[in-house]
Amino acid sequence: MIPTILVTGGAGFIGSHTTVALQEAGYRVLILDNLCNSSPTVLRRIEQITGVEPEFVQADIRDGGALDALFQAHQITAVMHFAGLKAVGESTRLPLAYYDNNVNGSVQLLSAMQRANVNTFVFSSSATVYGDPQKLPLTEDHPRSATNPYGHTKLVVEDILESLYNAQAGWRIARLRYFNPVGAHPSALIGEAPQGVPNNLMPYVAQVAAGQRDRLQVFGSDYDTPDGTGVRDYIHVMDLAQGHVAALRYCEQARQDLLTVNLGTGKGYSVLDMVRAFEQASRKTVAYDIVARRPGDIAACWADTSLAEQKLGWRAGKNIKDMCEDAWRWQAASAG
Ligand code: NAD
Ligand code: UFG
Repeated sequence: MIPTILVTGGAGFIGSHTTVALQEAGYRVLILDNLCNSSPTVLRRIEQITGVEPEFVQADIRDGGALDALFQAHQITAVMHFAGLKAVGESTRLPLAYYDNNVNGSVQLLSAMQRANVNTFVFSSSATVYGDPQKLPLTEDHPRSATNPYGHTKLVVEDILESLYNAQAGWRIARLRYFNPVGAHPSALIGEAPQGVPNNLMPYVAQVAAGQRDRLQVFGSDYDTPDGTGVRDYIHVMDLAQGHVAALRYCEQARQDLLTVNLGTGKGYSVLDMVRAFEQASRKTVAYDIVARRPGDIAACWADTSLAEQKLGWRAGKNIKDMCEDAWRWQAASAG
């Protein structure tokens, strides 16, 4: 059997780009996804980019039997765990679905790994675990808190991983805290495809530029930031994907480890910075209205990236021009 990386949620936004990066780095990938927020067409798109269609199993991470079968049929050497639900607003309405998918799902997956003696695990955590920043840039030792069920699921899974690491020798775990992933593969064959009204800034901006939506609502212009709008650390999804390859290599070299690391660029841009950058990339106007703050939003958030550089030898290379150009190319291709 050929050594294989299991990528849960690999048909989704970040998982599909990471699959491309893994294949290009020489890894064989098996995707497990229940397709609740993605389409199987992404598999052929990945093949168009890399020349190899990843193996695919349509299953749920909460299905222990399906997981056991998969670990028996393949020689899986590591798991990258992207599968889960991610909409903050929805999580306040459907908390049980979030705890079930994200927390119970992770427990089921880790239990199956334990049964199969696979102990290398890369987890999609989030900068949301820092809550409202007490100081910037955010370092990994910043206190954690959660203001919504989604964020709480990330906190809980981080803690579960720590308990597991402390309980049993041999685990090699990376908890990767993503800042704001945006952009798309430069081929425009894969990208972010939100269903319905986008929750996040960049897909919404792209749809306004494309004429699919009338105007962007800018949530608040009275924050303590240079132009009053919210500031975030946007990271190109291909940089993020490369960060995962670096984290996997780090784990592979360790006897055992529990690594917690930010994946961001270290730079903050405001909502209006992003609107202007997108207008330049697309040569379209992005009409907007300033409206009230969105409940639960923080003013500003960006990463200290020094630990990622030191531990993984990785840093983001793409800038907001790249992010906007690739997001626009994807938007234009997927609308056509
Ligand atoms: P996504 O929704 O595009 O991808 C998630 C994939 O998981 C989807 O293909 C979905 O069908 C699948 N999935 C969901 N529940 C499943 C289940 N129970 N069993 C099997 N498959 C399941 O999301 P994404 O943006 O690619 O995010 C990937 C991970 O990164 C998530 O864990 C998310 O919480 C985390 N994250 C995302 C962001 C972001 O802004 N996109 C930021 C920080 C962290
Ligand atoms: N914003 C708008 N209008 C919109 C959407 C967003 O003005 O239509 C603003 C927000 O107020 C914020 C900024 O754009 O200032 C970014 O908002 P996003 O919703 O794109 O991203 P968030 O920083 O709120 O959250 C995202 C993910 C979370 C993740 C977090 C990590 O949605 O899951 O990044 O930093 F935890």
